[in-house]
Amino acid sequence: MAALRALWVGLVLLGVLGVPQTRAEAQVSLQPNFQQDKFLGRWFTAGLASNSSWFREKKAALSMCTSLVAPTADGGLNLTVTFLRKDQCETRTLLLWPSGLPGCYSYTSQHWGSVNDVRVVETDYGEYALLHTAGTKGPGQDFHMATLYSRTQTPRAEVKDKFTAFAKAQGFPDDTIVFLPQTDKCVEGHQ
Ligand SMILES: *[C@@H]1O[C@H](CO)[C@@H](O)[C@H](O)[C@H]1NC(C)=O
Ligand SMILES: *[C@@H]1O[C@H](CO)[C@@H](O)[C@H](O)[C@H]1NC(C)=O
Repeated sequence: MAALRALWVGLVLLGVLGVPQTRAEAQVSLQPNFQQDKFLGRWFTAGLASNSSWFREKKAALSMCTSLVAPTADGGLNLTVTFLRKDQCETRTLLLWPSGLPGCYSYTSQHWGSVNDVRVVETDYGEYALLHTAGTKGPGQDFHMATLYSRTQTPRAEVKDKFTAFAKAQGFPDDTIVFLPQTDKCVEGHQ
């Protein structure tokens, strides 16, 4: 009897544990108790994965960019993104407004006018953040993207592994997951 009961308990546990695991793969999770104030400041975009055709064409030419994250009056985020393009530093501002749970934001694509969703899937605030973006880049051009934010230009191997595992769990094939090369060109002047 005891052995039977133990077997039954074991099966129940397997069943209970099995369900959230498959769910976690199917949908994108969210950093529990996300604290926006601790997320502010400077981040480096150290890794990217995307299935957009733009990314497929450009991924080899991309280098690490800087995002300065500041709060907006409406409780959202103001991202000042500085990146290297044709040997010049360019700056873009991205305004994210809060959409639902803490850590969920939306923004309007300047180019397409479409509304895209960004969520902070996981962060420890001091070292790394994993972000997921989903939206559209024009008619019939839905895309999704995984981003690795790092507080330094040299993320630790453990952090890079975490990003690779996250991107793979989102269904990105290996050849769409890239770590962006470091550049000193557009960092100075942006505290
Ligand atoms: C966003 O930040 C940029 C750069 O600091 C600033 O020029 C702009 O006014 C800010 N926009 C909002 C809506 O906060
Ligand atoms: C990218 O992936 C999303 C989500 O899986 C899908 O809806 C979309 O059609 C894909 N886009 C491209 C360009 O493959």
